[in-house]
Amino acid sequence: MPLIPTLKDKIFLIWGANGWIAGHLEILLQSQCKTVHCTAVRMENREEVEEVLNRIRPTHVFNCAGCTGRPNVDWCEDNKQETIRSNAIGTLNLADCCYLRGIHLTVLATGCIYHYDAEHQPHGKPFVETDPANFGGSFYSYTKSRVEEIMSFYPQTLILRLRMPVSDDLHPRNFVTKIASYPRVVDIPNSNTILTDLLPCAVVLAESGETGVYNFTNPGVISHNEVLTLYKEIIDPSFTWQNFTVEEQAKVIKAQRSNCELDTTKLETKLKEYGMTVPEVHVAYRKCFERMKENLQREKMLT
Ligand SMILES: NC(=O)c1ccc[n+]([C@@H]2O[C@H](COP(=O)([O-])OP(=O)(O)OC[C@H]3O[C@@H](n4cnc5c(N)ncnc54)[C@H](OP(=O)(O)O)[C@@H]3O)[C@@H](O)[C@H]2O)c1
Repeated sequence: MPLIPTLKDKIFLIWGANGWIAGHLEILLQSQCKTVHCTAVRMENREEVEEVLNRIRPTHVFNCAGCTGRPNVDWCEDNKQETIRSNAIGTLNLADCCYLRGIHLTVLATGCIYHYDAEHQPHGKPFVETDPANFGGSFYSYTKSRVEEIMSFYPQTLILRLRMPVSDDLHPRNFVTKIASYPRVVDIPNSNTILTDLLPCAVVLAESGETGVYNFTNPGVISHNEVLTLYKEIIDPSFTWQNFTVEEQAKVIKAQRSNCELDTTKLETKLKEYGMTVPEVHVAYRKCFERMKENLQREKMLT
């Protein structure tokens, strides 16, 4: 019997089965011919979580579940107890149940726990993994930052901080779809996660048993206007938009929004060990929109 499990021995379980990112991860793992199961069991229900883990006996769990609010994070401001139940009690319960069984856990966390401050300005000094969270302007981010800190005490846990994730389609949860549909947008440089670039990295890191916290975005920052300019150039030449200030934005939203740049040096250094690289965010966006254009044209031909 080999001491190290072979690829075939690995069993992946995705939590949050009906979620947007969970769906992308499932397709990716299936395309790699991996053994993958999905569950939508509520993370806070200990007996049900234990039953799923005992029955499926995964070697690797991906936690893609979380209370993100609908239509957006403003919902969490008015539903704090429900948000705590998922993002604090549920997330920690799942981490604890995995820990007790020696299961590797990858958590799709958020980088929206930071906000530019005097020390960290756009195109200045980005936030590194060890910087304490400095953004509690939304209850969603507040729960996420506190839980991340506690969860990092569980060994065999890999915490990947995504920001403003982008897919190669116009799914309503795609950051591009969101900002393209708003009547007015702010224009601030931010770290973004292009899922096609980053999700394969999550699989490699997880199956290699990596642990710890990683800022999980493409390197560099891109502003809303830069994103929309590329969108107009490649996807929809007739598209127009209007900007407004953060102060004007604050009048139409309930929770504040995080704007920040995450340092990706730790991630890039780790990925080099696996012969992997992640494209700079402007380069990545152009490629993403080119894939999106092809996807939209294919869809159009089928209808
Ligand atoms: N999308 C983003 O902008 C973004 C950015 C950074 C990080 N993230 C994080 O990445 C993860 C996935 O995001 P997503 O965009 O794919 O969100 P999503 O589409 O809202 O999916 C989240 C899924 O989690 C499920 N869920 C919520 N509470 C649960 C609980 N207590 N137990 C089990 N399942 C639960 C939801 O089911 P119900 O709908 O039935 O509750 C939903 O199917 C989340 O943790 C999110 O915080 C997302």
